[in-house]
Amino acid sequence: MAQDTYRIRLEAPGLAARIRPGQFVMVRPTLGLDPLLGRPFALYEVVRGEGGEPWAIDLAYLVMGRGTARLAGARSGDRLPLWGPLGNGFGLPRAGVRRVAMVAGGIGQTPFVALARWWMGQERYGLGPQPGEPWVEAVRLYYGVRTAGYLAGLEDFEAAGVEVRLATNDGSAGYRGYVTELLERDLESGWRPDHLVGCGPEPMLRALQGVAGRLGLSCDLSLENHMACGFGACFSCVAPIRAEDGTVDLKRVCVEGPVFDAARVEWESGEAARGL
Ligand SMILES: Cc1cc2nc3c(=O)[nH]c(=O)nc-3n(C[C@H](O)[C@H](O)[C@H](O)COP(=O)(O)OP(=O)(O)OC[C@H]3O[C@@H](n4cnc5c(N)ncnc54)[C@H](O)[C@@H]3O)c2cc1C
Ligand code: FES
Repeated sequence: MAQDTYRIRLEAPGLAARIRPGQFVMVRPTLGLDPLLGRPFALYEVVRGEGGEPWAIDLAYLVMGRGTARLAGARSGDRLPLWGPLGNGFGLPRAGVRRVAMVAGGIGQTPFVALARWWMGQERYGLGPQPGEPWVEAVRLYYGVRTAGYLAGLEDFEAAGVEVRLATNDGSAGYRGYVTELLERDLESGWRPDHLVGCGPEPMLRALQGVAGRLGLSCDLSLENHMACGFGACFSCVAPIRAEDGTVDLKRVCVEGPVFDAARVEWESGEAARGL
């Protein structure tokens, strides 16, 4: 798809029929023992067969280390251990939301093709409620990467009718600087979404949380904490989340997340809990 970035199609009809945007799967990139732990990947897209039935899922991934490098070596016909769908996903858009800004940093754009298509009524996902008509009229993607070579899947967003706004650290494509700065500029010039969603590295999510707070915009963040099991058993993925009564509790991102209301995410408490 782009520099160090690949798309893989995994035949898994039962999973493809159930998974919704923002949910993820755990994949072990080999039938052998190395690596032993699975790696989490968001749904990129569901693939339908000729009769319209879901039969596969596509994942999009950036090669980071051992697991993703092994995954890049998988070949057609290989069998890989895979479990999911996992996590809460994005759910239905909140009432009255018509214009959405999706804010992605790096490989954090992966959940947003499917989310945009679902909320704009172009595709059905999972077994739950579906749109009778489009919930959301317009989606803008704010997409930031280090340099233009990492921009992945732009044609998929364009095919879905998503307006794409780019930012790169080195100015090789779009705005030179952080994607949240580009968003703030557009907001200052009068463009206003009803809702924000974000996925990407923690500094970007913190900045987005700040923008949403300052402007009083609702915002959901998909967190990318490290995960070992993906189904709630190991507590390796916890994040401090503030409850409605103001108390802060460590929540398992793989079960209660990965999507949380930005106003409830408490980064500083997380650092304290991890002894940073
Ligand atoms: C819910 C969820 C959804 C995800 N969806 C995608 C996706 O769609 N596409 C994709 O490419 N990646 C996604 N990731 C991140 C992906 O799981 C990691 O990049 C992957 O586990 C790295 O595995 P590895 O064995 O290649 O790297 P490792 O050898 O395990 O690590 C290599 C380096 O990457 C760092 N690293 C590992 N995991 C993460 C992480 N989660 N965040 C930041 N740094 C990390 C390590 O600290 C280390 O420095 C997602 C993560 C989560 C939690
Ligand atoms: S990854 Fe094991 S509890 Fe979340």
